[in-house]
Amino acid sequence: MDESTKQDFIKAGRISAEVLEYGKSLIKKGNSLLEATELIEKKIFELGGKPAFPVQISCDDIAAHFCAVEDDATILENQVVCLDLGVHVNGAIGDTAYTIDLSGKYSDLVKAAQKALEEALKIVAVGTELREIGKTIQDTVKSYGFNPVRNLSGHGLGLYDIHTSPTLPNFDNGDKTKLTKDMTFAIEPFATTGSGVVGEKGHSTVFMVEHPKPVRSPITREVLKEIASYDGLPFAERWLQRKFGAKSTFALRELNQFGIIHQFPPLVETSKGIVAQAEHSILIDEDGEVVVSTKI
Ligand code: CO
Repeated sequence: MDESTKQDFIKAGRISAEVLEYGKSLIKKGNSLLEATELIEKKIFELGGKPAFPVQISCDDIAAHFCAVEDDATILENQVVCLDLGVHVNGAIGDTAYTIDLSGKYSDLVKAAQKALEEALKIVAVGTELREIGKTIQDTVKSYGFNPVRNLSGHGLGLYDIHTSPTLPNFDNGDKTKLTKDMTFAIEPFATTGSGVVGEKGHSTVFMVEHPKPVRSPITREVLKEIASYDGLPFAERWLQRKFGAKSTFALRELNQFGIIHQFPPLVETSKGIVAQAEHSILIDEDGEVVVSTKI
C-alpha cells in the first residue's frame, strides 16, 4: 500500500469515528429512524467523506442491512439499535458500528458484542490466525451467556470494495490463515439472545451493481448513470427515490430482472433473537504496526 492510500484509510476511519459519535446522539426515543439515517449520511459528506454504503440502522432481531426507504415511518422507542456506517476517501474505507439499547433490557448483550471486539483487537498482530480472532469473539460472547452470529463475519476492506478477503469469523472456524503486513479489514462481532444464525428476510433497500451491461429504456439508463457515480459501492433505494421519484421503482425492477444489480435483503436472526453488533476497521501497515482507524 502506498503512503497516500494509507493516509486515505486513516482519514476514512477518522471520519467514520466522528460520524458514529454524532450518529449515537441521534439514536434516542422519539426520533425518526429515517431522519437519523439522513442526518448521519449528510454528516459523512460534511466531514469530507462519501458513504461506502448506505447508513444502516437495524433494530432488534434484524442484524444488518436494514436501510430506511423514503416513506419509512419507524420511530425509535424501545428497540435495540445497531448503527452501522461506512465512509470512503478515494475508495479507502472505514467501516464501524455500535449498538444502543433503548429498551433498558439488553445492556449485557451490547456489552458482550463490545467486549468481544475489544478482546479481538488485543490479539490483532502480524501472524495471528483468523481462527484465533473467531475463538476470542466466541468465548467472550459466550461468557456473557449469549451466542455469536456464526454466518456474519468481519471482512477485508479493499479500495472501492467493502467485502473482500479475508473473512474474519465470529467463531473458531479452524481457519489457520494468518494476518499479514499491509492488510486492511474490519472486525465485526455480533452477539444474540438467539441461536446465532441470520437469514434473508423482507424487501431489499440496498443494492450494488454486479454485472453492468447496456439497457434500452431511457429511464433505466438515466438511473444507471446515477448509480455509476456511486463507484461500484452499495447504494440505497432511497437515494434513487429522492432523485427520480416513482420512476426509480421501475428502473430498479428492470435492473434486477436483467441481473445487473445484486440485492441485499435485511438479515434477520432466524430464532427471533435480539442482536447487538460492534465493529472497528483496522490497518496493519508495511512495518506490521496495527492502526485501529475507526477508534477516536
Ligand atoms: Co463491516
